[in-house]
This record gives sequence, C-alpha cells and structure tokens, in this order.
Amino acid sequence: MKVLALNFSSRSGGQSKTDLMLNSLVAGMRNAGAEAKIVNQREKTVINCLGCYTCWTKSPGRCIHQDDMTNEMLPEWLESDIVVYGTPPYNYTMTAAMKVFLERTLPSIQPFFEIHEGRMFHPLRQKVPAAVILSVSGMPDNNHFSALSSHMKYIYESPGRKLLVEIYRPAAETMMNPFFKEKTRDILDATAQAGKELVQHMTVSSETMERITQPIVDPQFFTEMANLMWKTRISEGSSDPQAEGG
Ligand SMILES: Cc1cc2nc3c(=O)[nH]c(=O)nc-3n(C[C@H](O)[C@H](O)[C@H](O)COP(=O)(O)O)c2cc1C
Repeated sequence: MKVLALNFSSRSGGQSKTDLMLNSLVAGMRNAGAEAKIVNQREKTVINCLGCYTCWTKSPGRCIHQDDMTNEMLPEWLESDIVVYGTPPYNYTMTAAMKVFLERTLPSIQPFFEIHEGRMFHPLRQKVPAAVILSVSGMPDNNHFSALSSHMKYIYESPGRKLLVEIYRPAAETMMNPFFKEKTRDILDATAQAGKELVQHMTVSSETMERITQPIVDPQFFTEMANLMWKTRISEGSSDPQAEGG
C-alpha cells in the first residue's frame, strides 16, 4: 500500500504539532507494511491555480504550471492508495498551503457536469487516493474542526472519492508542555496505532480514536496558562516558537 502524507503546517519540525502527529501516524503505517512518504509543502513550490482550464482543454490532465505540484506532488498523489492531509486549522479550516494544493488537483477531474443523489459534480478523470484528514488545533474545543470537517466531507462525498478517517487533536500546543508528558506519549502511541489500523482495516477503532482525542487540559486551566504564557512572551518580546499557547 502506498501512502502520501502531506504536511501543510507553516512551521518546521520541532515546533509543529502537525509534524509530531503525522510522524507517529506514518510510523504506525510503515510498521504495518505501508510504503509511506511524508512531504512538507512548505519545502515545495506550489503556485496558485490560475483558473485557465488548460488542464481541462488544451492539455487534459496536465496543468500549465511547471512547478513541484505538476512535476512531483500531483503524480505522487495519483499513485497513492491513501493520502493523509495534515493541517492545523487556520481561521477554523485549513492553511492556505492546503487550499492551494486542493485547488491544484483540478487536472484530476473532468469539466463535464453530472448529477448524483441530487448533487452536481465533475466526474474524476482517473482514480484518486482515499483520504485521511489529520488536524491539530491550538484551542481546546472540538468544534474548532467543524468547518474543516464539513469542507472535507463535501469534497469526498462525490462518486469515486472516499474519506476514510478524520483525526482531530484539540489543544495540541499543550503537548509540548512537560507537565502533560504522559498524556502526550499516550496520544502519540495511539496515533501510531491509528496508522497501523488504517493500513490493516482502512479505518480506526473507536478505542484508538478516544485515546487520540482524550482531554489534555481543563479549558479554564488552559485559559489561565495560555494567557500567562502570552503575557510573558509579549513582555519579553519573545518569538520562541517552542512556547505554549493557542
Ligand atoms: C494564522 C493562524 C490561524 C489560526 N487559526 C486557528 C483556529 O482557527 N483555531 C485554532 O484552534 N487554532 C488556530 N491557530 C493555532 C494553530 O492551529 C495551532 O497552534 C496548531 O497547533 C499549529 O499547528 P503546527 O504546530 O503544526 O503549526 C491559528 C494559528 C495561526 C498562525
């Protein structure tokens, strides 16, 4: 099984909770025998879609841009059995990098219109990978993922597409705090277990999901801790990315 794990966080390893969670998920997938590759989009050049529709007319299936999306990422996405979209919620949905990636998958669909179960859609040009969404929020409440979830569900409910699993880890910034070391270890172990289950069964059990999403911190305590951290950072003029907070 081929897996492409895409990291759309703007932050690099050591700071990024998307990185932390994605690494565990992929480790579990590899342990279960999958051939899994992690690609950090921040290290790639992916230009915005121009909306020219050349990929639908003059060169069907091929974008006009000569960049890493056309030459590497789209071919790798199309060859994969599973794609993992790893993104923090930025303004309640996804990072701009992930949005650009999704828009640039336009060559994989055809221009024609079809209606399925009352909904209009463009049919696929070729097989596309089944998807997993993995997101890590600063805020401790689960409803911060609702816009991202409905966006991904809407894309993936059209024919030929499959959204396998949604993994949402609230209060992810607190995972760097040594005070929550044991819970963090269990969450990362459970994320690796989720990777294994995905490769073996194409889904994640409710027990594993409960461990991944277990509460880390009481919201009131979170608020006091995070506000104190930001006040300290403001007074010190610190931009230390390792520090805590949402
Ligand atoms: C521009 C921007 C927008 C953000 N919007 C949200 C948001 O809507 N909800 C939330 O819980 N966290 C939000 N955050 C916080 C990040 O999602 C959170 O810190 C996440 O853990 C970062 O993931 P990373 O460590 O992989 O970069 C935002 C951060 C930035 C920089």
